[in-house]
Amino acid sequence: TNRTFTMIKPDAVENGHTGAILEKINAAGFRIVAMKKTHMTKRDAETFYAIHNERPFFGELVEFMTRGPIVAAILEKENAVEDFRTLIGATNPAEAAEGTIRKLFATSIGENAVHGSDSDENAAIEGSFHFSGREMF
Ligand code: GTP
Ligand code: MG
Repeated sequence: TNRTFTMIKPDAVENGHTGAILEKINAAGFRIVAMKKTHMTKRDAETFYAIHNERPFFGELVEFMTRGPIVAAILEKENAVEDFRTLIGATNPAEAAEGTIRKLFATSIGENAVHGSDSDENAAIEGSFHFSGREMF
C-alpha cells in the first residue's frame, strides 16, 4: 500500500464536478487519508509548481491555480501513484483515454481538472505541503 497526492483544480470546483470526481476516486479503490477545500495563494502555487518555473506556461499555471478554491487530498492504495495517473488520464484532455477523469471533466491542457503526483517521492513532498501529520488518518 502507498500514497499519492491530488488536487481537484479550480476549473473542476467552479464547474461543480467535485462530488463526481470524488465518486470516481472512491470507485477506483482509493482510501482518503486527508482532505480539505483550500485556496492557494500566489506564493503557495509558485512554491508547489517550482519545478515548472522555467516553462512558458508557468505564469498562466499560477494564475489558474489561484483563481479559486481547490480540494486537496492524500489518497492510499496499492500502486497509488501509477494507478491514479491512469485514472486521471493524459495532461491534455484531448489525448486522455475514455472514462478518465480528465476526459470527462477537463476543459483544456491548462485547465485539466485534477493533479496527480508523478512519483512516490513527490507524493510525500506534495502531501506535506498541504497537510500536517495530525491531518492524516
Ligand atoms: P499534474 O498532475 O497537474 O502535475 O499534471 P501532469 O503531470 O499531467 O502535467 P505536468 O506536470 O507536465 O504539468 C503541470 C500542469 O501544468 C498541468 O497539469 C497543466 O495544468 C499545466 N500545463 C502543462 N502543460 C501546459 C501547457 O502547455 N499550457 C498550459 N497553459 N498549462 C500547461
Ligand atoms: Mg505533473
